[in-house]
Amino acid sequence: MSKRIGVLTGGGDTSALNATLKGIALRAEELGYELIGFMQGWAGVLTGGSYCRLSPDLIDADRGGTVLQSSRTNLRSSNKLGEAVENLKKLKIDALIPIGGDDTLSVGSALSEHFTTTFVTKTIDNDVGINCPEGSTVDYTQIVNYFCPGFPSAANLVAKYIRDVRTTAYSHNRIIFVEAMGRYAGWLTLSSAYGNADLILIPEIPYDPDKMAEIIEAKYIDQGHLVVAVSEGISNADGNLITESAELDSFGHARPGGCSEVIAEHMKARLPNLSSSAFRHQILAYMQRCGSPTPIDRDTAIKAGKLAVSAIKNGQVNHVATIMRTDEGIIPKLLSLEEVLKRGEDGHVIRRSLDARFYDTENFSISPAGVGYFRAIFGDPPKTYTSPSLKILTI
Ligand code: F6P
Repeated sequence: MSKRIGVLTGGGDTSALNATLKGIALRAEELGYELIGFMQGWAGVLTGGSYCRLSPDLIDADRGGTVLQSSRTNLRSSNKLGEAVENLKKLKIDALIPIGGDDTLSVGSALSEHFTTTFVTKTIDNDVGINCPEGSTVDYTQIVNYFCPGFPSAANLVAKYIRDVRTTAYSHNRIIFVEAMGRYAGWLTLSSAYGNADLILIPEIPYDPDKMAEIIEAKYIDQGHLVVAVSEGISNADGNLITESAELDSFGHARPGGCSEVIAEHMKARLPNLSSSAFRHQILAYMQRCGSPTPIDRDTAIKAGKLAVSAIKNGQVNHVATIMRTDEGIIPKLLSLEEVLKRGEDGHVIRRSLDARFYDTENFSISPAGVGYFRAIFGDPPKTYTSPSLKILTI
């Protein structure tokens, strides 16, 4: 039976959103379904919102961002869920596919109590899903949502930038603090290991400026330059972000950003023996969220989009098209919302932190288990960095 399905993209954009939309449009076309795209996330389903007809030819899977545009609109806090349901019914939509991260999914899961909904995840933060059970061994096939579409492309850009900036760090004997996104989770910052970051500071580990100064000094004396990857979500021992803007989004989240500069200043103050011009910082910001997807990200996102439409056809609603690692490779798999979203006592979605086993707390770097995780996305890790072996003589 022909259906009319809706789709929207919510939250921060990623490079793989159009790929997911392409998969949805291709499968919808195959099944003879009509596809309606709501503009600007949840705002599109509200009165005054806008929508369009979507078909595969209107979507370029290799183009980053989202053809439907996005917004951070919280229907729950504004009591607009009822209005959204009414509008969806008015437009004769049979089922809705929200593509989003934890905020979009938590709005969607409230909506799914009143409307047929199936989800596809996305976020460069990679914090939607569940880590494999705790223990000394890591079974990668048990990670629920191995990665969120959008993460591999962003991780690739972070690793590339970290690798590239070393030439400048070396040339000028600099210590460059490079700030990656991922406000609550260190996944994206850890991907800098594939660019040979010398130190990696993640939000899951409280920041201790005195200890960091000691480590940086020792490494700098040894190497003459450093590239340090820091997450925008770095917090103090009391759990507060070390920098945040006063601006809150509609989900009440403070915007992080700018901690690389603060950390550079902390280190400069604690290491007066080093030239003050050695300390530099760089915020990657949208440079890690923009542009084309990597092939693995694009292809997986297309498959996840197709799976979401097949799920609607098969009546498997209130499910999520996740990504799983299997012995046959990385494939999409349909799971129930409950299997994907861990909730706190108050019903709020708990974001997935970086698996502690993937991080080496002693050396502020990636652990062998972490390399095992990234290998499935990037292939073999890069060779360790070695400085040029010049024989330097003094005049
Ligand atoms: O939620 C994804 C994310 O990329 C975070 O890592 C980051 O803090 C945030 O979006 C910033 O988004 P924007 O500047 O679009 O509000």
